[in-house]
Amino acid sequence: MQKSLLVLLSLVAYIQTVTAQDYKGLKGHYRDYFTVGVSVAPQSVEPGDEAELIKKNFASLTAENVMKPQPIHPEEGRYHWEPADQIVNFAQANGLKVRGHTLCWHNQTPDWFFEDKEGRPAGRDLLLERLRDHIHAVVGRYKGKIYAWDVVNEAVSEKPDQMYRPTKWQQMLGEEYIAKAFEYAHEADPDALLFYNDFDTEKPAKREHIYKMLKGLLDKGVPVHGMGLQGHWSIYDDLTAAGLEESITRFASLGLTVQVTELDVSIYPKDWNRKERRASDTTSFTPEKEQMQIDKYQMIFDVLRKHKDKVSGVTFWNVSDRKSWLDTFPIRGRKDYPLLFDEALQPKKAYWKVVDFEK
Ligand code: GLA
Repeated sequence: MQKSLLVLLSLVAYIQTVTAQDYKGLKGHYRDYFTVGVSVAPQSVEPGDEAELIKKNFASLTAENVMKPQPIHPEEGRYHWEPADQIVNFAQANGLKVRGHTLCWHNQTPDWFFEDKEGRPAGRDLLLERLRDHIHAVVGRYKGKIYAWDVVNEAVSEKPDQMYRPTKWQQMLGEEYIAKAFEYAHEADPDALLFYNDFDTEKPAKREHIYKMLKGLLDKGVPVHGMGLQGHWSIYDDLTAAGLEESITRFASLGLTVQVTELDVSIYPKDWNRKERRASDTTSFTPEKEQMQIDKYQMIFDVLRKHKDKVSGVTFWNVSDRKSWLDTFPIRGRKDYPLLFDEALQPKKAYWKVVDFEK
């Protein structure tokens, strides 16, 4: 009896401490730096503890999945708006911004885009018409409610000796599709900030390919306004402060605003080949890993604050360690702990490090 009372009292004390220390939330601490956002599923914004955490800590939302081509446009001319509307409505009701994600990608895009009515490969004109219709419909629906769009996602190759990823878009249209996607998005909402978004943007060869592509687009007058560094990092990867700074300054030198669009710091080495879980794939958030994660987050945010004149937004990919895409990717059933809030939605030590800069 006495023991449970003690537990209860310490819990209350903990909550009071958290509340007292953190009444500003992440977005409050970063108000003078950049917009802090988070990716969500519609369930996250239903009334409950997650929605409260979101309202308190984040100033911007990204739909984790429901605005991607497959979920929002599963068949030609049939749009599934409801889940995306739910997120946008929650944002509007609570004064949050929204980043749109994503209009043109090789993943999560239905096959019908690429085929004609007879199931043969679509010709150039048909494919461009579909890309235009899709972008006009989606961007048009949320005009004035979504301030920025990830227009093209992951068009550049991971291979150092290859410029463009050989996707269906690339194979069927050549690199022209990239410029077209930005032009269509600009037609649909001339006020929206338009981003190119990619991962591994700190790997020198890929960074230079992206830079070259963006410079080429800008030189031709294509409406690109921002560069999205996805920021799926790991405590074991070789991301350094210098490497991150180099990416930010290089892309900003093109006149683009830079955002981190999908931030998380996995506690496992980065290996993106999907695998089944083996007995040796253990889950362990040890004190050593916790410290490595704290250090990595601190380094990342030190750099981002230093470049606040170039960085306009930082979005986390998922809300808390209660549920992250990394729990099932690349290994199904191997729990990860990549975020700043724990499974009970309490701020982790890494959180306190990230907000501990004002004194
Ligand atoms: C990429 C995409 C995101 C998301 C993540 C993994 O980074 O841009 O939309 O799918 O992979 O969840």
